[in-house]
Amino acid sequence: MKERIQLTVNGEVHDIVVDGNKTLMEVLREDLRLTGTKHGCELGECGTCTVLLDGEPVLSCLLLALDAEDSKIGTVEGLAAGSAPHELQIAFGELGASQCGYCSPGMLVSAAALLRDNPAPKREEIRDYLAGNLCRCTGYLKILEAIELAADRVSERRAAGETSPEHRIPARPAAEHGPDLEPIEGKRGSA
Ligand code: FES
Ligand code: FES
Repeated sequence: MKERIQLTVNGEVHDIVVDGNKTLMEVLREDLRLTGTKHGCELGECGTCTVLLDGEPVLSCLLLALDAEDSKIGTVEGLAAGSAPHELQIAFGELGASQCGYCSPGMLVSAAALLRDNPAPKREEIRDYLAGNLCRCTGYLKILEAIELAADRVSERRAAGETSPEHRIPARPAAEHGPDLEPIEGKRGSA
């Protein structure tokens, strides 16, 4: 059955009519044409579909779009500020952390939430946080190094009193609201 819903994505409100059984991933990609969020396993196993829901990384293949109506959704398209990429995107490019690139949007979204909360994570903390984001290409070393490089730059900016890019990632709400979802970290695999 078709439903009219409003979705707030990267700060923009979209008033759309969608099939009630569509997942958030499907609506983002097919109805809003935000194809940065990737379609992987659709089983909650790979993390390619990761988006932020009220600042928390979640798997958009496991969430109905209807259930995201009252939340703020953040996708990889929202990481850049206009033509200025997020530090993570710069570091991924510089260090070759994207091979085929299919896992990169999910990795970037998860890592952006991590740096918002912890701008100087240890390598083990990065591994733990990204445990739900799988890469099928050449391993995780370049990804970890890129996140560390971005973290160093974010920390330098903060120390210099400059606005750092993780401020574009919405903070977690003070009060609980939105669908009852578990964060994705630690659900599967190991980075
Ligand atoms: S597509 Fe959602 S976890 Fe794989
Ligand atoms: S870069 Fe290809 S799946 Fe990660």
